[in-house]
Amino acid sequence: MTQYAYDNNSPALCRVFAPFFKVGAAINTRNMIDSSTKDFMSLDKQFNIFTLENESKPEEIHPEEGRWYFDKFDKFVSFGKKYDKALRGHTLIWHSQCPDWFFTDDKGDTAASTFLIKRVHDHVSTAVSRYNGKITTWDVVNEVLHDGGGMRKSKWYDISGEDYIKEAFRSARECDPAARLIINDYNLESSRPKAETMYEFVKKMILENVPIDGIGLQMHLSLDTDMKLLRDNVLMLSELRKYKPELKLEVTELDMTLYPYTWEPDDGEISVTKEISDKFTAKYVDLFQFYLELSKEGLLDTVVFWGLNDGLSWLNGFPKRHRNEPLLIGRDYVLKPAFDAVCELI
Ligand code: G3I
Repeated sequence: MTQYAYDNNSPALCRVFAPFFKVGAAINTRNMIDSSTKDFMSLDKQFNIFTLENESKPEEIHPEEGRWYFDKFDKFVSFGKKYDKALRGHTLIWHSQCPDWFFTDDKGDTAASTFLIKRVHDHVSTAVSRYNGKITTWDVVNEVLHDGGGMRKSKWYDISGEDYIKEAFRSARECDPAARLIINDYNLESSRPKAETMYEFVKKMILENVPIDGIGLQMHLSLDTDMKLLRDNVLMLSELRKYKPELKLEVTELDMTLYPYTWEPDDGEISVTKEISDKFTAKYVDLFQFYLELSKEGLLDTVVFWGLNDGLSWLNGFPKRHRNEPLLIGRDYVLKPAFDAVCELI
């Protein structure tokens, strides 16, 4: 019998995994407006932690200097309070979806480092103070590492080197001492050089007393993801605990594209064969088994999916518009075999 995410009698991910970690999803404010919709009933039933997919990014909340648009972020925070959900703040500093004014001084020239650092302080302090005590975890900086290892050469980095990152963490801690402060990035599970850069960078931050509490592993995976490399890289990062015993890992943007790395947009849409579907289920089971192991070591307490269901996933539009089914909950909120299989781990 088909089960749906919102059904009273179907299993709920956040309940099944409650002894081990919170389970969450990226949502948009339109999903949380009407409590009688399938979106709302599903998100409320299945998840206990949420991230705003786009509406709390720098260009959304601070498109011009001194002009702040907190309406949607405020709605998200009220929703969290009303329904007793933990909330992630995504994201304070990012090279993408960040307006150019940040990098230009009052004369229209490229900002000097001290000028930019003051802006980082103002931006981070304003947002974090506003939501003091209401945001569980902040993705303080997002994607600051280069794909092949080393630091990302963004406008932030070109102007201030690593100082913008350190200032962002210090300002965030100053304004909300209780919030968990995270550095968030992708491909940490699939690129050894990138994972090694993360290790060295976080180690340096800890040794310099920069207030960092954890690493966000986005985990935009694929059926091709090498699970051994994933485990090895994550376990390497967990060794940072020798420098900070309470350091946490969070899975922040989980999904698993059905399209292979070699797939070209012109190859057309993939058809989901039984072989693909079985591989998808097996990989999610392997993954959740690993998450449980990490949780038992006290390393992982949060797993967030990047989207509420397959139909709402960003992967239907990336890198080109095509159907994708990367989540445990299908279109129309059907619970997929992979959903049942991960729940059976408990
Ligand atoms: O809101 C506009 C709409 O007004 C316009 O008509 C439409 C036309 O393209 O665009 C809409 O904005 C889009 C926005 O999503 C909201 O749907 C942007 O073009 C599109 O670029 C944007 O994509 C988002 C992407 O971040 C931006 O880089 C994805 O939804 C979002 O899932 C994705 O999330 C990122 C994380 O923040 C960081 N990690 C990677 C992850 C996936 O890329």
